Amino acid sequence: MSNTNVKKCPAPDRPEYAFIGRSNVGKSSLINMLTNQKKLAKTSSRPGKTQLINHFIINDSWYLVDLPGYGYAKVSKKARNKFQAYIVDYILQRENLYCLFVLIDSRLEPQAIDLDFISWLGEKQVPFALVFTKADKLGKTKLASAVAHYKKELKKQWAELPPVLVSSAETGLGKEEILTFIADAHLP
Ligand code: GTP
Ligand code: MG
Repeated sequence: MSNTNVKKCPAPDRPEYAFIGRSNVGKSSLINMLTNQKKLAKTSSRPGKTQLINHFIINDSWYLVDLPGYGYAKVSKKARNKFQAYIVDYILQRENLYCLFVLIDSRLEPQAIDLDFISWLGEKQVPFALVFTKADKLGKTKLASAVAHYKKELKKQWAELPPVLVSSAETGLGKEEILTFIADAHLP
């Protein structure tokens, strides 16, 4: 189901996990990787592809949610504000949201827009985890140092770090780890 209104989302009767992050960070690709599907979530090399709140029901028991990206400058200011309002409503009002995965491009220095968003989640006490995407674009050593660098940046502001995962939609890296994280979060 796809829509722009949290009140019209499926009944909140199952655990839910949503993916958010900058436009083009790889949210939709990660959902396809996790579900072994090529075209479940629509992907594009152009930022701004996902524009709706998209619910996918998994094994009839939980939801994966693909969200639009933030920080995409090419839409008008009005469209951007409108878009943000329904995403904010979704994040703050969705009662069955067990974890919001905040995707971060492994290749980039910590970006203000992501750090601000993470701070806001902390303020609002939204449960979240970080996923460093496109790990295939970096070597192992560079990936490890990028993640360590990011953690160091977060420690300036946080006493406790959120869970941190790494992924590649290209190689499948992180699949078991993320699926286990999800299972652990909602199995008794
Ligand atoms: P919006 O819906 O526009 O916010 O983007 P998104 O975050 O859903 O990104 P999407 O999954 O559509 O991927 C954006 C681009 O990055 C596409 O060209 C993907 O093929 C590419 N991409 C996504 N994940 C990976 C990855 O793990 N490795 C590599 N090399 N490319 C990736
Ligand atoms: Mg998308």
